[in-house]
Amino acid sequence: MKKKLKLGVLVSGNGSNLEAILKACQKPSFPARVVVVISNNPEAFALQRARKYGIPTVVVAKNNEAEILAALKKSKVDLVCLAGFMKMLSAGFIKKYRHRIINIHPSLLPSFPGLHAQRQALEHGVKITGATVHFVDAGCDTGPIILQGAVPVLENDTLEKLKRRILKVEHKIYIEGLKVIGRRVIKTGRKK
Ligand code: GRF
Repeated sequence: MKKKLKLGVLVSGNGSNLEAILKACQKPSFPARVVVVISNNPEAFALQRARKYGIPTVVVAKNNEAEILAALKKSKVDLVCLAGFMKMLSAGFIKKYRHRIINIHPSLLPSFPGLHAQRQALEHGVKITGATVHFVDAGCDTGPIILQGAVPVLENDTLEKLKRRILKVEHKIYIEGLKVIGRRVIKTGRKK
């Protein structure tokens, strides 16, 4: 079997990005596979999605980074994917997985970082917004950008409609971002 990047996905809620990743991982040519899904919310629907795909799940107590780190280590995770994980990771955590944590954010960063990015875009009156896949650093949505996708804001848009339109693009670019990283890492690995 080809070597694949081992992903640990951190979630807190619905998990539609997780599902997009899990679907992509079913393709033999996809350069990554999910080895563990970790949630800081026992009620997260994302956990049900993971179980449907037979992926091991871990529920950690809120804010317990030691438990998260232990679960990542146990599953020998290469890359941590934040997918609707509603907690800022500490600088110490990020240092341990330096350049190995990525996130999806529902705006064209550096515009509208932080919470409620879609609402911020609507309230600001921008005509184009979108989604960003980026590496995570110690700041709030400030890490190096990997990929972006643009989404129009339509006249009479509601928050819900805009969120849905952005989510579709999130699912697409998260997969594209993983392909870029996965192929690069595996290629680098082979040179050794
Ligand atoms: C997405 O909009 C993502 O960009 C943000 O949180 C939301 C998670 O959605 N970080 P889901 O749980 O993947 O459906």
